[in-house]
Amino acid sequence: MTKDEILLASQDYLFPAVFHYYKEPLLIARAKDQFVYDADGRAYLDFFGGILTISVGHCNDKVNAQIHRQVDTLQHVSTVFVTEPQAALAKKIASLTPGGRLTKSFFTNSGTEANETAIMAARCYTGSSEIIALRHSYHGRSAVTMALTGQAAWRMPGAVQPGIVHAHNAYCYRCPFGLTYPSCGVRCAEDVEELIRSSTSGRVAGFIAEPIQGVGGFITPPKEYFAIVAGIVRNYGGIFISDEVQTAWGRTGSKWFGIEQYGVTPDVITSAKGLGNGCPIGVTVATPEVADSVKGLTISTFGGNPVTTTAAKAVLDLIDEENLLANAAETGAYLRGTLEELQAKYAVIGDVRGMGLMQAIELVEDRQTKAPAVRATAELMEAARRNGLLLGKGGMYGNCIRISPPLNVSKSDVDEFARLLDASLGECTNGTGSRL
Ligand SMILES: Cc1ncc(COP(=O)(O)O)c(C=O)c1O
Repeated sequence: MTKDEILLASQDYLFPAVFHYYKEPLLIARAKDQFVYDADGRAYLDFFGGILTISVGHCNDKVNAQIHRQVDTLQHVSTVFVTEPQAALAKKIASLTPGGRLTKSFFTNSGTEANETAIMAARCYTGSSEIIALRHSYHGRSAVTMALTGQAAWRMPGAVQPGIVHAHNAYCYRCPFGLTYPSCGVRCAEDVEELIRSSTSGRVAGFIAEPIQGVGGFITPPKEYFAIVAGIVRNYGGIFISDEVQTAWGRTGSKWFGIEQYGVTPDVITSAKGLGNGCPIGVTVATPEVADSVKGLTISTFGGNPVTTTAAKAVLDLIDEENLLANAAETGAYLRGTLEELQAKYAVIGDVRGMGLMQAIELVEDRQTKAPAVRATAELMEAARRNGLLLGKGGMYGNCIRISPPLNVSKSDVDEFARLLDASLGECTNGTGSRL
C-alpha cells in the first residue's frame, strides 16, 4: 500500500475511537533500538517507547532471537496444556516480586485484563465487592477497569459499576486539599479512612492504585503515602493491588516494581506493557492466599502463550544481565537533571516529576495560577515531531509531557533528547505569538 492508501484505509476502516497523535498522523514503518522510522525513512528518537512498552529497545536482537525460535517450535496450545515458557516465566516473576510473597501468576494479554483479574481475585478473597480507586487514575478499557479509572475522558458513557469509590490522589503540585507537603501530614492518604467510613459498607475488597499515575501525567505520591493507605485499607478488610502496568520491570530505577520505592508489599501486582517489549502479555501476580481463593473455571485462550511468555522471559533476563535497573536509576537521574535545567530556562514548565526513566513535565501558562498550558503542550508535541523526537502526552488537563525511553538508553541519548526538546520548546508560542 502507498502512504496515502494506508492513511485512508485507517480512516475508513477503523473505529474513529482509534485516535492518533498530531494534526497529521505519523505513519511508522519500522523501528530499531531507540529509533523509529516513518514511511519516508526519517528517523525519530523515541522517548515514549510505544507508551512505556519498549523496555529494552525496539526489535531487540536478543529478545527477537528467542521469539523467532519459539514461533518455529510451538506457537499456541492454550492453558489447558502445560508449556515450559509459561512455567519458566511464572517462576522468574515469583523470584522478583517484593518480599517474596507474591508467587502465583495468571497470564493474560493486556493490562486491562490483568486488572480485571486482580479485582475478581480481591472479591473472591474477601467476599466483598467494594473497591477504592484513585482520581486521575487509568486502569484500562473494559467495563470494570473504565469504572476504576478516575478521568472522565477515559470513561465511556454508561461505564458505571456499583461499589467503586474514588479517593483523592496524591497530586502534590495541585493538592486536592490546597495544602503543601510535608506540612499537609499527607492528608490525602489519611482521607481514605473517611472515604471508607462514609462511602462504603465499611468492609472493602481492596484498593487499586498505580505507584506513579501514568496516563494521569506521572503524578508521583510522596514517600509515606502508600504505607499509610495500605494500613487503612487492610484495617477495613481489603487487599492492596499495585497496578504496575507502567511502573514495573525497573522503569522507576533500582527496583523491579514501583511500589518498592515506597517500602510497601502489596497483595497483588498487575502488569503488562514493558514486560513483553511489544509482545501482548499481561500478568496478575498474587500471594498464594489470594490466588487460591479464585475457585471455579476461568480461562484466557492466549494467556500464557508460548511466544509471548518466551518474549517476556527474554526481556526480564536481559534487564538482569545488562543491569538495566541501575541504568534506569543513573540515566534517569541524569534525565531529571536536564529537565530541571530546561525548567529554569522556560517558565512554561511548572513541574518536573517522576522516578528513574519515567519523568514528566507539566506545562502551565502561569506559575502562580498554574493554569494548564494545553495549547502550548499541543504545540510542543508538533514541534518535537518536526525536530525528530517522539514524546507522550498525558494528564487530565492534557498539559503533561511524558518521557519514558527504553531502559537501555545512554547519557548521550539523553543529551540528544535534551537538545531536541530545548529546540522544540524554543519554537512554541503558547498561541500568543510570543515565545514561551
Ligand atoms: C496503569 C495502567 N493500567 C492499565 C492499563 C491498561 O493496559 P492495556 O492498554 O494493555 O489494556 C494501562 C494502559 O495504558 C495503564 O497505563
